[in-house]
Amino acid sequence: EQRYENILTSRPDPGVALITLNRPKALNALSTAHFRDILSALNDADADEKVGAIVLTGSEKAFAAGADILEMKDKTYADAYGNNFLSNWEDLKKIRKPIIAAVSGYALGGGCELALSCDIILASPTAKFGQPEINLGVIPGGGGTQRLTRAVGKARAMELMLTGRMFNAQEAERWGVVAKVVEEGEGKVLEEAVGMAKAIASKGRLAVMATKEAVNAAYEMPLTEGLRFERRLFHGLFATNDQKEGMAAFAEKRKPNFTDS
Ligand code: CAA
Repeated sequence: EQRYENILTSRPDPGVALITLNRPKALNALSTAHFRDILSALNDADADEKVGAIVLTGSEKAFAAGADILEMKDKTYADAYGNNFLSNWEDLKKIRKPIIAAVSGYALGGGCELALSCDIILASPTAKFGQPEINLGVIPGGGGTQRLTRAVGKARAMELMLTGRMFNAQEAERWGVVAKVVEEGEGKVLEEAVGMAKAIASKGRLAVMATKEAVNAAYEMPLTEGLRFERRLFHGLFATNDQKEGMAAFAEKRKPNFTDS
């Protein structure tokens, strides 16, 4: 499948969609066209009934080195504001299946923000995260001031974004930005991400999507509303075959056979 200029798409497992950023000459800098490809592939995967989870990755050297600076450098305020530059990054939130970011090398600026927009980040020990926009005379525009702050707290977020320094995989793990740092070795982080995606794809899709929706609601809602939202989704799942099957399988001491219904 070679429909895209800046990304590769494949199915390493029938239930797993893999999207590989592939603009090596610019360390996967996210041009407008590149980002459009990513969104399109994500939407395709989300719509594909066979897919249960999505993995997004880059190269060994770079997950993505940011928004494309060369494309941005001559932009005027009128261009940026008039065309609502980067507003389509919010479309990432519409993807309902889990997205795992498998990060090796640089995840800077928009690259860090893209990873933060995913549901789970796995990092290789070589991963280097950061929001260096301050060094370019701007601020993060793809969600960094909001998502990184929620992830690491105000003091660290301020330090990272005001100095623009990079932070490594171990720091990212300690601060809860990444779920896990995998062992060193080429391809390891992708291997682990695909394995995790495969495991998630074997669960009932409805419960998987409801989990993602409920966890994300924790970032949008006051606690009482979030708890109510969770409980209503929980109640709703009792209308599914997968709940009947999952609980019957437990009682009968066998593996469940989910049908996503
Ligand atoms: N945009 C455009 N091109 C980029 C790029 C970017 N963000 N990052 C790297 N490249 C290009 C370089 O221009 C270079 O191209 P040429 O070979 O044609 O000169 C190529 O990728 C390789 O880069 P380097 O030679 O710089 O590689 P390096 O190994 O010496 O350094 C690096 C790697 C530290 C990541 C360095 O490339 C770098 O600092 N990149 C910019 C990082 C950055 O500032 N990102 C934030 C962008 S702003 C943003 O993302 C806004 C937002 O919030 C959405």
